[in-house]
Amino acid sequence: MSKLIIEGGSKLKGEIDVQGAKNSALPVLAATLLGNDISVIHNCPKLSDVDAAVRILEHLGCRIQREQDTLVVDARNVDGFTIPESLMREMRSSIVFLGAIISRMKKAVLSTPGGCELGPRPIDLHLDALKKLGVLIEDEHGFLRCQVKDKIRGTKISLSFPSVGATENILLACVLGEGTTTIYNAAQEPEIVDLANYLNRRGANINGAGKSVITVTGVSSLHQAEHWVIPDRIVATTYLCGSVITGGEVCVHKVNTGDLQGVLTVLEQTGAQIRQGNDFVLLKMEGRPCAVKTIRTMPYPGFPTDAQAPVMAALSIAQGTSIFVENIFESRYKHSVELNRMGADIKLEGKVAVCTGVPKLTGATVHAEDLRGGAALVLAGLNAQGITIVKNIYHIDRGYEKIEADFGNLGAHISRVDE
Ligand code: UD1
Repeated sequence: MSKLIIEGGSKLKGEIDVQGAKNSALPVLAATLLGNDISVIHNCPKLSDVDAAVRILEHLGCRIQREQDTLVVDARNVDGFTIPESLMREMRSSIVFLGAIISRMKKAVLSTPGGCELGPRPIDLHLDALKKLGVLIEDEHGFLRCQVKDKIRGTKISLSFPSVGATENILLACVLGEGTTTIYNAAQEPEIVDLANYLNRRGANINGAGKSVITVTGVSSLHQAEHWVIPDRIVATTYLCGSVITGGEVCVHKVNTGDLQGVLTVLEQTGAQIRQGNDFVLLKMEGRPCAVKTIRTMPYPGFPTDAQAPVMAALSIAQGTSIFVENIFESRYKHSVELNRMGADIKLEGKVAVCTGVPKLTGATVHAEDLRGGAALVLAGLNAQGITIVKNIYHIDRGYEKIEADFGNLGAHISRVDE
């Protein structure tokens, strides 16, 4: 087990290139299953979640080569249709493979993902939508057996919540189906647009991705294509929060600034000076940040749930009180307990967190409980007086390629120690 040791107090300064988006790479990798050919996916981050996706693809019969951040997926000999429980448990997002496996193999067997560190993760929207497309699904004691009798048939699907995962599964299931599928109240996240762009590049016919109504007209086959995964907007947010919490000056490069507006609106309210171009954001912070009145997590283009923990860390040293309302996941405040151990003042009441800023945090030994919460603890350590030890960092490794190297390059004193 590894841990991160951080000696706080250095102001971050410098420039950094942002890695490819995990939440885009995973559905795009699932989509490589849809063609009887070879896909070349660039800007694929080196993460344990991506490794898990690779193991699933290999289990299904793909041959995969990695060269730096490029994955070459040969899906010509796919013959598997099951995902072992161990792989499903390793990565909750494995459910995004369901639509792709059904599309390719006309059947799929996998275990339901169950709960996770963020609370219950239901998949009823995924399953209801697939049933509407003509998939027969039996749910036996947590095992899903899915089968398409004839063909996936296009239909109208109205989601009661714009679920990212359900929208992805519908797209993956119906691009090679018969007729037209219309998704109402679809998720509008940039990662949905990235998936649709990749599929369209391969010959799919998807319109409206990024808007709340998406139409998909089925095509008979997809062809080979190269794809560049979009930059990770949450990793970019984390580094910008590093600038806020240390009173630093950090420029993140290779980002899509359009995707970051929900976060930048909030970070501007902290009093940070922000300059942005098409593919960079420079954030300079002098002194302590100002509190932000209310931050509500919302589906895109609202403030992302994934940014809640890093921004909470940054505002734990703000002047004044900030209120967070977590609307997406039930158990997404575990980091607040650890932040309080470092001297923060955060009180929880259901989905509301009241964060009263303190002048400075204090180093402590803390435990990452989930991916973004873990990143928040690293941010807190950058500010804290003394030494912070962050344990359970396998959570952080699911989403950050090299968090200690990146913060180290920006001037932080941070190292990884294998226990
Ligand atoms: C969510 C985030 C996404 C983020 C990802 C990783 C939103 C809307 N989605 O995507 O931005 O990148 O986590 O942290 O912020 N739900 C159901 N039934 C379902 C599916 C979902 O009730 O079948 C509920 C969930 O319990 C949750 C909400 O819908 O409350 C959002 O879920 P969804 O968007 O599907 O989650 P992810 O795809 O994991």
